[in-house]
Amino acid sequence: MAELVHLGIIMDGNGRWAKKRNLPRAAGHLEGLKSLKKVIKGAIDEDIKYLTVYCFSTENWKRPEAEVKYLMALFTNKIYGEIKTISNLGVQIRLLGNRSGLPEAALKALDRTVEETKENNKLVLQLAINYGGYDEIIRAVNQLIKDGVSEVTVPLIRSKFDNPDIPPVDFIVRSAGEERLSNFLLFDSAYSELGFYDRLWPDWDEEMIKTVKQDFLKRDRRFGGLS
Ligand code: IPE
Ligand code: IPE
Ligand code: MG
Repeated sequence: MAELVHLGIIMDGNGRWAKKRNLPRAAGHLEGLKSLKKVIKGAIDEDIKYLTVYCFSTENWKRPEAEVKYLMALFTNKIYGEIKTISNLGVQIRLLGNRSGLPEAALKALDRTVEETKENNKLVLQLAINYGGYDEIIRAVNQLIKDGVSEVTVPLIRSKFDNPDIPPVDFIVRSAGEERLSNFLLFDSAYSELGFYDRLWPDWDEEMIKTVKQDFLKRDRRFGGLS
């Protein structure tokens, strides 16, 4: 039977959620943070061990400066601001993505969050910020070249990822109806299951994670073999 150890989420639809209510896009992002808190609780209830959430892609810098600024401020202030709640839930925060390009203040707040939650072990929450699948693979391969490696293998490439101890993602789900990966977990998604849900991200909650888990348990993972 398939076991859902690592769930990845492409949190999409914050802008559409806000637009439907005639609110600025920022209001959608703020609401999205609230649903993330509910989803974290849902993941713990469902005994999921690793949760990776796509917060900001290497392509999201193309958005208007004000929106990028708002998102960076969320990562700087809000996430560290939730540290007590996060810690009380037993959540360990890890960062995934390219540090260069991120504002100093955001890095400082995120590093502090990582440091202060490192002993927690109920759920590992990987925040994908300034993350891109191409960037992840390229950084790993360039590091191997620097180390003098002349031939790469899958385990060697993986060993240079930001958190090589985290197992590959089992199920990638995306909110808001779009059916694409948008550069999320390109390498580790080789054999992950995919699920697409119409519900906009700010409308996700604990119950949605129950649904997601039930959907995953119906999948027949064959990894190229026979079931
Ligand atoms: C997801 O919501 C959040 C980020 C990508 C940062 P969007 O902002 O992409 O919302 P839509 O897709 O415009 O509705
Ligand atoms: C993907 O969503 C990135 C995140 C959820 C952080 P986008 O909204 O940026 O993706 P596209 O542009 O619709 O592919
Ligand atoms: Mg979007």
